[in-house]
Amino acid sequence: MNFNPLKEKGLPIEKQIRTWHDIAHRKYNKNDVNCYTRTRQILMNGIEIEAWNFKHNFARLTNHQDTLEFLAQTKRIEDAQQATVNWLAPCDQSVLETTLGYEQVAVDLTAWLAQNEPDPYVKETFDFGLLEDFDHLYRYAQWAYMVHGIMPDDIVQHQTDVMLGRPTQHHHNCNIARLRKHYDKNTATPQTKVNILTVLSGEQQTHNYYAEHGFEYGNEVLRETYAEIKDIEEEHVTMYESLIDPTESLYEKLLMHEFTEVCTYHNCMEDELDDDMRKIWEQFLDIEINHLNKAADLFKKYENRDPEEVIGETVVHPCHFESQKEYVSDVLNEEIDKRVIKHDFAYIKDLPDDWASYKVQEISGKDGSPTEQTISIIAEQRGKDIVCTDDKMKSKMPSLLERGLQEKGLAPDTVTVDEYKNIQKNQLK
Ligand SMILES: [Fe+2]
Ligand SMILES: [Fe+2]
Ligand SMILES: [Fe+2]
Ligand SMILES: [Fe+2]
Repeated sequence: MNFNPLKEKGLPIEKQIRTWHDIAHRKYNKNDVNCYTRTRQILMNGIEIEAWNFKHNFARLTNHQDTLEFLAQTKRIEDAQQATVNWLAPCDQSVLETTLGYEQVAVDLTAWLAQNEPDPYVKETFDFGLLEDFDHLYRYAQWAYMVHGIMPDDIVQHQTDVMLGRPTQHHHNCNIARLRKHYDKNTATPQTKVNILTVLSGEQQTHNYYAEHGFEYGNEVLRETYAEIKDIEEEHVTMYESLIDPTESLYEKLLMHEFTEVCTYHNCMEDELDDDMRKIWEQFLDIEINHLNKAADLFKKYENRDPEEVIGETVVHPCHFESQKEYVSDVLNEEIDKRVIKHDFAYIKDLPDDWASYKVQEISGKDGSPTEQTISIIAEQRGKDIVCTDDKMKSKMPSLLERGLQEKGLAPDTVTVDEYKNIQKNQLK
């Protein structure tokens, strides 16, 4: 649908302050909620955190009084939106259940963005990142079963495969290798800019969630699993943010943040199946249209440019959720043995012996990799790992693992291909 938010007024700022009851009282039922309602809720929390955080940074860097006043008023609104959205999650949803939701966001959102990304260089980065979150989902799914007796389909509802991806132990890099070339602010499309800011906000919040909650489990290997995967989410934030043109002015960035909020809420509103949730997305879209128009006025005043040069004349769709099994399995088949090198990618066979990430993996994995131990532990306890995919993909898993494992930088407790074949015998029974 074509919709130009600069032609609308939105909800006036004085009507954006809400009661505590309105801010905090709503929650979904974890047993009834559609998995993609949950992914929207998880993503929009990340979008609001990024909007709020950016505004605080901007406020520390400007002396323009009208800008400071706009930021002061709307930071509080972003913050209240964040509380409403994040607290839609019910208190009986465990950290691991929520974690499976976070990784489902990462897989299905990034796959959607990759297929709707006009810049092939940015698309390649999305494809690369998605295979890592795909493997995280598999590792966490083992723990959700062992700790809470939850099968992954209780959360992902058969929409997302759960099986090994690029092995997590190999996601640890020299962070310099994660740096990408940035887009050119004058030629990149609004779609590219919104796509990146959307996935970046999601990844940043995923990192924050693991940082804030990984310690809530007493099991030593599970704590270390959260520590290991949190470190990769940190790399994902570094990777995605490096795609953004750093020469964009603060006003241009402000415009992009509000536009991204408008586009994501608009997309949520159009897709939402739950009437109560749709009302929230509609109300918050109305709020963001007002923010965007104020940001556009400031942009015109201080940059003397037309905001439509930056954001175009219509919204884009950066967060449509639907099953991406086929797309993800194609990327998996193509890229399980792909790795990052600065500004580019290379396959394992082409990596130089002095690839800087080998050193990082050798040091951090010296005592073992918790995400490898996860698979040994569930194999010992249950006789097989938890996998949710079709038989065709199951039959490919040993050969995928063979291609995905490196010879160098391998943790001493790695589940080998032969060991995995043994685990899989029970899996296929
Ligand atoms: Fe907001
Ligand atoms: Fe992840
Ligand atoms: Fe991630
Ligand atoms: Fe906003």
